[in-house]
Amino acid sequence: MIKFVENASLRPYNTFGLDVKADLFVEYSAEEDLRAIFHDERVARKPFLHIGQGSNLLFTDDYHGVVLHSAIKGIRPTSQGEEVVLLECGAGETWDYVCEWCVEHGFYGVENLSGIPGEVGAAAVQNIGAYGVEFKDVVVAVSVYDIEQDKHVIVSAEQCQYGYRTSLFKQAECKRRFVVTGTLLSLARKAQFKLDYGNIKAALLERGFTLLQGSEKRKPARAERAKAITLRAMREAILSVRDSKLPDPKVMGNAGSFFKNPIIARERYDALLANDPDMPKYDVDETHVKVPAGWLIEHAGCRDRRVGDAGVYPLQCLVIVNRGKASANDIIQLARIIVETVRERYGIELEPEVNFI
Ligand code: EPU
Repeated sequence: MIKFVENASLRPYNTFGLDVKADLFVEYSAEEDLRAIFHDERVARKPFLHIGQGSNLLFTDDYHGVVLHSAIKGIRPTSQGEEVVLLECGAGETWDYVCEWCVEHGFYGVENLSGIPGEVGAAAVQNIGAYGVEFKDVVVAVSVYDIEQDKHVIVSAEQCQYGYRTSLFKQAECKRRFVVTGTLLSLARKAQFKLDYGNIKAALLERGFTLLQGSEKRKPARAERAKAITLRAMREAILSVRDSKLPDPKVMGNAGSFFKNPIIARERYDALLANDPDMPKYDVDETHVKVPAGWLIEHAGCRDRRVGDAGVYPLQCLVIVNRGKASANDIIQLARIIVETVRERYGIELEPEVNFI
């Protein structure tokens, strides 16, 4: 199935809910369709943008080109060993449905990525991540249509060059050349939970679970009465922590983290601690740390900043929300104010995580 819509509204395809238009919108449901699409005169040699659910995009204007959307569905185990199962997922499958499906089937690895908006294709491009797990930890290979060579190719996880919210597919020339059609994921059949995040631990303890895993010896008393964590419990804990901090885009337009967490030299971080001893960090390597942008924005005093209907989300300042009729311009102006305020206060440069189109 291929669907062509001219002068199409992109409102349902961007979670900020901005009312922008595309010259042409094309949706397709099979890998083979891409050949026909890129040979069609309405598409060939035109600028194009491939979107998922538009949960990480900010359209600054109408899009004069072709917007493509994959409706390639399907989740299929291709091989099942004692320890590992390989799962093929269509690029148009909803990411959170994949997480739910894995939990339902007892496959471990993506439960911490529960609740992230968007589709499988975008997960592979963006290397989504949350609560100590990234897409790169489970991916084995990505299948793509190579427009230049007019054929389907498999790209190994290593060739994808995954980094913090980035990959090969985000490089300009690759964006013009490859369309992700599916992914091959490797999931574990035995429990191995990632519990590094404090608020996840707290959510599990609150629900009466023990944090001891596998061969770890149980301590008596309280732990004896505690239940062992299940895959379902892990997913529910993650979803509840997300719910308590992140606005639902269906209720209030937003694109999740608006900024990346900046990576700075450890020396610089140590110097900042003199004034701000509570500044949190994640260790990156021996000489670098990542500082939560949300913390910087809040502590620089931007928690209640607004420009028109665009506002900082006070429960997680990393998120910019559309409280009603915000325009792209309102959002851009607010983002600019935030960047400047954080720069003045901490000398740290915030970079958007959201893609400006
Ligand atoms: N914090 C504040 N004020 C805020 C926000 C955060 O003080 O307004 C503090 C928190 O108290 C905590 C620290 O900053 O000490 C980190 O906050 P959190 O655990 O919420 O995570 P994050 O670093 O702000 C990242 C991802 C999120 C992901 C969470 C959980 C980035 C840019 N963001 O946020 O991803 O859900 O970790 O793993 O890496 C997304 O990509 O859209 C997204 C939401």
